[in-house]
Amino acid sequence: MPDALEDVRKWAGQPVTETPIKGGLSHRIARLDTSDGQTWLLRVLDPRVSAAGLGIPLEQEIANTLRAADAGVGPKVLHRMPGALLLEYLDGVTLDAHAVRTLPGPVAAACRRLHAGPRFVNDFSIFRKLDEFLALCRTHGLSAPDGYEDCLPAAAEIERALAADPLPTVPCHNDLLPQNFIRCGPEVRIVDYQLSGNNDPAFELGDIAAEADYDPDLTARLTRAYFGEDDPRLASRVRLNLIMSNLTWTLWFAVHHGLLKEQAADAGFDYDAEAADKFAQAVRDLNDPAFGRLIDDVRGVRPGSPPPPAPPRKEA
Ligand SMILES: Nc1ncnc2c1ncn2[C@@H]1O[C@H](COP(=O)(O)OP(=O)(O)O)[C@@H](O)[C@H]1O
Ligand SMILES: [Mg+2]
Repeated sequence: MPDALEDVRKWAGQPVTETPIKGGLSHRIARLDTSDGQTWLLRVLDPRVSAAGLGIPLEQEIANTLRAADAGVGPKVLHRMPGALLLEYLDGVTLDAHAVRTLPGPVAAACRRLHAGPRFVNDFSIFRKLDEFLALCRTHGLSAPDGYEDCLPAAAEIERALAADPLPTVPCHNDLLPQNFIRCGPEVRIVDYQLSGNNDPAFELGDIAAEADYDPDLTARLTRAYFGEDDPRLASRVRLNLIMSNLTWTLWFAVHHGLLKEQAADAGFDYDAEAADKFAQAVRDLNDPAFGRLIDDVRGVRPGSPPPPAPPRKEA
């Protein structure tokens, strides 16, 4: 297979220089500069990532990247190559957690725009992702943090509660850590569709809140900015998804570290510390006295819906 850079040079018909960007843990990402002054972004997908279950299949990622571009949120796709994409270079500032905490409005607006765009080609559930990761850990003898399995009944309880009155699914990114947001002027754009799929929008918001360490007040502000209404049940739904983000992505690190050893060794990244940090946050929220109220809230009804019959209480 020709190298993607060679492919781009041929396509462009001119010399192109590559400057690697060290960012995420997964793929080869580089800024390309052409001799006539254009700047592009090269994303060469590492097939080992999706093969290990850490990303969706490459063809789905490419199809969803095209759709996110159509929504006006993702970078434009300039050229497709086997397993690689040449993208519009977003000339802005990559966000960090602090910036995401100061920008709930523009972040919510970017999500609304993505979610209003064309549906993605696959569905995504954080609960099924958790099941997949657990199965991989068991099959390959990878270790989750101590006490991990004790949290699984609570995850099942969250899934049941969210399913009582589900929201329609929308095309979600599902991995909105701060570095996947790029601020371009007043607008926030979104890159990296490695885990994209149609999902509950409350997961998108909960995941953003988890990755940028939002407190409950800021989580409520993000929820309000996105839904345009002040409904505590929606904020509770987002907070339960925040817990699921921390709980599930804890295992992303265990699986990445265990199955992609070569990549992990090159990354110079403390996988165990990251997994322990996410797990500690999930445990903190599961043990919080507010947890039961969050569950009760989401079992309620959304404004405008007829009230459902009272659900049977588990303890009854
Ligand atoms: N289209 C783009 N324009 C400008 N910078 C980008 C673009 N795509 C990615 N980047 C930069 O590269 C970093 C890593 O890219 P990303 O696609 O998130 O890779 P990974 O899958 O490895 O996380 C991003 O955090 C951002 O700083
Ligand atoms: Mg990324």
